[in-house]
Amino acid sequence: MANVAVIGAQWGDEGKGKIVDWLAERADVVVRFQGGHNAGHTLVVGESVYKLSLLPSGIVRGTPSVIGNGVVLDPWALRAEIERLAAQGVVATPETLRIADNCALILPFHRDLDALREDASGAGKIGTTRRGIGPAYEDKVGRRALRVCDLAHLDDLGPQLDRLTAHHDALRAGFGEAPIDRDALVAELRAIAGFVLPFAKPVWRDLNLAKEAGKRILFEGAQGVLLDIDHGTYPFVTSSNTIAGTAAGGSGLGPAAVGFVLGIAKAYTTRVGSGPFPTELEDAVGERLGTRGHEFGTVTGRKRRCGWFDAVLVRQSAAVGGITGIALTKIDVLDGMDEVRICTGYRLRGDVIDYFPAHAAEQALVEPVYETVEGWHESTAGARSWAELPAQAIKYIRRIEELIRCPVALVSTSPERADTILVRDPFAD
Ligand code: GDP
Ligand code: IMO
Ligand code: MG
Repeated sequence: MANVAVIGAQWGDEGKGKIVDWLAERADVVVRFQGGHNAGHTLVVGESVYKLSLLPSGIVRGTPSVIGNGVVLDPWALRAEIERLAAQGVVATPETLRIADNCALILPFHRDLDALREDASGAGKIGTTRRGIGPAYEDKVGRRALRVCDLAHLDDLGPQLDRLTAHHDALRAGFGEAPIDRDALVAELRAIAGFVLPFAKPVWRDLNLAKEAGKRILFEGAQGVLLDIDHGTYPFVTSSNTIAGTAAGGSGLGPAAVGFVLGIAKAYTTRVGSGPFPTELEDAVGERLGTRGHEFGTVTGRKRRCGWFDAVLVRQSAAVGGITGIALTKIDVLDGMDEVRICTGYRLRGDVIDYFPAHAAEQALVEPVYETVEGWHESTAGARSWAELPAQAIKYIRRIEELIRCPVALVSTSPERADTILVRDPFAD
C-alpha cells in the first residue's frame, strides 16, 4: 500500500482538486506541501461547487487535513477561506486542520511587492497571481521570514523585524513607497494570531506517527511541473518546487513516504499568465477549447490560454516530476471534434528534438511537430467506465500513454466527483 502524491503535469489547473477530493475518500490524511493561496482548486459535488486555495481539498469530505511547512501561509487569506467554506457547511477546526508551526508567513507587504513588480514590468511581467508568493519565498530562503510559530512570540520580534523591514524598506523606496509601519504590522499580526495559533502544530510529528501506523497519506500538490522553479519554463514559473520530491521535504517526512506519484494532465493544454507555450492555439479551435472547458482562472478569473496536448512537455514532466501514473482529465472537452492533434516533438533549426530547451531564445524558436488523430462525435461526458468511452477516445488516450511513456491510471470525464474512470488504483500499488 502506497501513499499517493498528486502533482500537476502541465502549467497548473489540470484538475488536481477534483482528483484529490475523489481519492480523499480512501485517505486518512491530506497534506498540502508547497505553494500557497495562488492555487485554485475547484471541486464539484452534486449541486455544490467548492473553491479551495490554501486548504487541502480533503477538507470537503472531512478527511483530516494538514498544511505542511513547505507552504507559504497568508493568515488573513486562511481566515477568509475558512469562513467562506463554513458558510457552505465545510468546517475546519483544529481537530480537522493542522498547520505546520514552521510555515513561513505571507505578509501584506509581500502582496504589495508582488503587485509593484508586476506593474513595473510591462510586457516582461510574469503574470503572477499577485498573492505575494514569490516575495514570501524569497524572505524564507533569505532567512528573514516570520513563521507561524512567531505569532506566539510577537513581543520578541525586535531583531527579526529589523532585518525584515530593512530589506523591504529599501525595496519599497525603489518604488517610491513609504516604509513599513511596524506598529501597524505587529497590531495586525496580534489581531490574527488568536485565529491561527490553535491550528499550529509540529505536524511532522503527527505525520510520522501516521506513517508508522500505516495510515494512508495523500499529498496534494499545487501548480504543475512546468511552473516548477527549477524544471519549469523559468522565469515564467512559480517560486516553489512543484515536483513530487517536495512532498517529503514540504511536510517533514522522508522521501520513502511518497509512493505512487499521480500526475494530473488535461487532455489538451492550458496556461494562465505569461511565458512560452508551443502548442498554443490563438484561433477558433483554441477559443472552442476555452469555452467548452470553462477555462477561466479560479483565483484571478483570468482567461486561460489553450492549445493541443503537448506530449513532449508531459513526458518531460513525468520524468523530472517522478510521475508513476497519469490522471487524464477533461477528455469530454474534446468531444465533437473531427480531428485532434498531439505534439510529438519540436523542430529547432532544422532538427527535431524530443525535449523543451532551457533557454528562452531556443524556446521561442521551437515549432511543434504534430500527429493528427481522428476525433470522436459521441459524448464522453460523465463516463464512469472504460466501456462507455468511444473507440477513438480510447485510441487517443492509448497514444498519449505511449508518447509520454507513462500509464494512464485515471480518466476524468466531467467536473463532478464521481465521473471518474479508475484504471489502476494509486493506493493499491
Ligand atoms: P486544479 O488547480 O488542478 O485543481 O484545477 P482547477 O480546479 O483550477 O481547474 C480545473 C477545472 O476543470 C475545474 O473547474 C474543474 O471543476 C474542472 N474539471 C476537472 N475535471 C474535469 C473533467 O474531467 N471535465 C471537465 N469538463 N471539467 C473538469
Ligand atoms: P493551481 O494549483 C495555474 C502561475 C501564475 C503565473 C506564475 C507565477 O490552481 O494549479 P505566482 O503567483 O505563483 O508567483 O505566479 O504561476 N500560477 C498558476 N497557474 N494554476 C495555479 O495553481 C497557479 N499558481 C500560480 O499564473 O504565471
Ligand atoms: Mg487551479
